[in-house]
Amino acid sequence: MTNVKEARDILVLGGTGKTGRRVAERLLARGMPTRVGSRSGRPPFDWEDRSTWAPALHGVRSAYVSYHPDLAVPGAVESVGSFAELAVESGVRRLVLLAGRGEPEAEAAEDAVRASGAELTIVRSTWFAQNFSEDYWREAVLSGEVALPAGDVPEPFVDADDIADVAVAALTDDRHIGELYELTGPRLLTFADAVDEIARAARREIRYVPVSIEDFAAAAAAQGAPREVVDLLTRLFGEVLDGRNAHLADGVQRALGREPRDFSDYARDAAAGGVWDPGATRAARGP
Ligand SMILES: NC(=O)c1ccc[n+]([C@@H]2O[C@H](COP(=O)([O-])OP(=O)(O)OC[C@H]3O[C@@H](n4cnc5c(N)ncnc54)[C@H](OP(=O)(O)O)[C@@H]3O)[C@@H](O)[C@H]2O)c1
Repeated sequence: MTNVKEARDILVLGGTGKTGRRVAERLLARGMPTRVGSRSGRPPFDWEDRSTWAPALHGVRSAYVSYHPDLAVPGAVESVGSFAELAVESGVRRLVLLAGRGEPEAEAAEDAVRASGAELTIVRSTWFAQNFSEDYWREAVLSGEVALPAGDVPEPFVDADDIADVAVAALTDDRHIGELYELTGPRLLTFADAVDEIARAARREIRYVPVSIEDFAAAAAAQGAPREVVDLLTRLFGEVLDGRNAHLADGVQRALGREPRDFSDYARDAAAGGVWDPGATRAARGP
């Protein structure tokens, strides 16, 4: 058991990922004692290995909880609930949970974390703009064709920089305790709109091709995606892109008192960073 008075570090789970990296950078820039929680962290933290949890929590007062791979996978709700319980037992007072908008399993995870009794802020996010530049869909953008089972449902893509700003505010300012912030960008875009904006920003020909969930799953499997990744993506596309998230929310405005970043600003900056340049490598990072 850690003495709460001694606990000072802020643990950032997923601290090398799309949101966690940005959260950790912001905390470090403010000079706050920050610890990356991931398999490559020191000490390492692995959701799959509970023996790593207590060492990662030692001396920690607050934590940003970004689960990997997704709160929709089997066992995730139990894992984040157990982690939150252990965190509070270890002396952690405040948790900021990254959850997914319109996902029933993510809401169950919110409840499980709330049951820990920690000071809690929930950041319930829609699809990240950075999925096009730092993850799932970057290879497709580079290939010139983004084939996804997303039809023409509009989505209010949110910028990971906004998520990080909200998370850092929640980790460092008591005013956010107990809040649930639904985060979206300022504009609804279909996937075709989003890909068009990226094509313009990157000055390349890139097209969006709507495909069926079955064709998407078959193509992903043929490209060697592991079974669980294919299952997760097909489930997310089937569930979350049925129109339930096709409306804007005001979480960024409520938490930060400013408008969220627009997708076109994201696309311009990501293109300027070279992530979609011909010949760009997997290691290249968006802004
Ligand atoms: N992507 C979206 O559009 C979106 C939208 C809404 C909500 N979310 C939620 O955001 C969360 C993160 O998703 P993401 O797509 O943004 O991923 P991400 O944070 O970019 O994932 C990578 C991070 O996870 C760490 N990681 C990977 N395997 C791990 C393990 N077994 N144990 C501990 N850490 C591990 C990686 O570090 P190491 O490799 O060093 O371990 C890295 O820091 C998910 O819970 C998801 O539900 C995502």
